[in-house]
Amino acid sequence: MTGFAEEVRRHRLQGRESPIYWYASIGSTNDEAFRLEERERIPEGTAVIADAQTQGKGRSGRNWFSAPGAGLYLSVLLRPAKRGPSPFPLTLVAGVAVATALERQVGRPPRLKWPNDLRYEGLKVGGILTEARANPDRVTSVVVGIGINLSQLPEHFPPDLRQTATSVAVATGRRPDRAELAAKVLDELDAGYRLWLQRGLGPVAEAWRRMASTLGRKVRAVKNGIALEGLAEDLAEDGSLVIQTPAGPARIQSGEVTEVELTECSS
Ligand code: BTN
Repeated sequence: MTGFAEEVRRHRLQGRESPIYWYASIGSTNDEAFRLEERERIPEGTAVIADAQTQGKGRSGRNWFSAPGAGLYLSVLLRPAKRGPSPFPLTLVAGVAVATALERQVGRPPRLKWPNDLRYEGLKVGGILTEARANPDRVTSVVVGIGINLSQLPEHFPPDLRQTATSVAVATGRRPDRAELAAKVLDELDAGYRLWLQRGLGPVAEAWRRMASTLGRKVRAVKNGIALEGLAEDLAEDGSLVIQTPAGPARIQSGEVTEVELTECSS
């Protein structure tokens, strides 16, 4: 294990240690976690962390900007299949874990935009990419990938991200220690994951509601190719977003949701 991985491990709560793979540069920590799972059958809870990613992946086929040393790029391998019905809620579990870890580290939690964004003042500071592998019968493994912008100034982002992205340093004025933050994220994720396995989404959903920016807002979404607009009312027990539309309640479990300013909304 390298110095950085040892540092992360030192900051973790006692008894919560699981293997950590550290890379100076890698394509994607999510891909590497699946590769290790296939080749080495790594234990559940194994973390893959990189200083830089050359092909960091975001949701919906987008790239995740992953400059060296500027962010936390972390993936965790989980095997919830035997116990949980669908791995979808893990994105919400991870969002709460990261927001809580940031609150502990810099004193201010980001807000959670359903399903996977972490934001300060409406600007994206982090995101979660949950990917699953399955055989015909069941999901065999899940990788929860977490990206957090830590120290970038606006001019460090590619031009197309400058209006929408921020970093923890810019938003809070604090530069968290990366190893300590990684340890807190891993501890919080571990605790949230166990809670979800034991009691379902209920307790984590409570925390998510408190930290969410989406609820109570007008939103736009697309369901089965049809655009809809309405008030984001609640989180359902399976993690989907309940939107009250003029045609009645709709549940969204995938795709993009845009938070709309009230003045912009036509419904
Ligand atoms: C998003 O908001 O679009 C999700 C971004 C997820 C980025 C992280 S960085 C670590 C892990 N490895 C990847 O390739 N992606 C995730």
